[in-house]
Amino acid sequence: MRKTIIAGNWKMFTTKSEAESLAKGLAAEVGSVTEVEIVVCPPAINIETVISAVAGTSLKVGAQNLYLGKEGAFTGETSAPMIVSHNCNYVIIGHSERRQHFGETDSSVNQKVKTAFEYGLIPIVCVGETLEERESDRTFELIATQLKAGLADLSGEVLTQNKPIVIAYEPVWAIGTGKVASPAQAQDVHAFIRGQLASIFSEAKAASIQIQYGGSVKPENSKELMGQPDIDGALVGGASLKADSFSAIIKACI
Ligand code: PGA
Repeated sequence: MRKTIIAGNWKMFTTKSEAESLAKGLAAEVGSVTEVEIVVCPPAINIETVISAVAGTSLKVGAQNLYLGKEGAFTGETSAPMIVSHNCNYVIIGHSERRQHFGETDSSVNQKVKTAFEYGLIPIVCVGETLEERESDRTFELIATQLKAGLADLSGEVLTQNKPIVIAYEPVWAIGTGKVASPAQAQDVHAFIRGQLASIFSEAKAASIQIQYGGSVKPENSKELMGQPDIDGALVGGASLKADSFSAIIKACI
């Protein structure tokens, strides 16, 4: 049985004090929830503040990105061991904003997933099509390519060591636009993703992988989306920046 996983991607929002009060607000509202896995991904500079604010609750903390290797002369970057040293469990990889603004490709996603595994982080690997790709009927082809290239050469490690991995399906046209994919549209792609994961890994592994939907998830639409057989959670941007709306999304899934 796959456990629902709701993650909040705070993007480049929250100062230190805002991060602290948001995290404390969440800890108060949903800090004892165990039916759903809850992860918050603050900006790297606020990870320590958030880790302290949610200590002793069921909330987990993740990073929004990592760079390759243990350490090195890479100004401005954050390494996996640095993230792990703060007791973070998760890292978002290949978000469409990173692909769009920071030149990330399926190949860099693949290297980053390998790095996450090397240091014991659970990657939340993002895939999703643009509006143009959807309108030209290339959604499935594109998702297949993103998965195959992004998860290349990992099958052995994932299967022998039973490494956990989360996939987030985020149609680019639905991110931050208020345009949410319909539950049926999202379910179609999620079922397709699970089929691809079965051929990349195995049927059994694919059946155990949590696949999140992301793109304008709100308290009003989360229940119906999460009710689809292959939708196992959500990656939430805007609505994760307020304790009440993020908590309402979580509570709707219980
Ligand atoms: P949104 O963002 O919920 O604001 O659409 C989702 C995401 O980018 O992960």
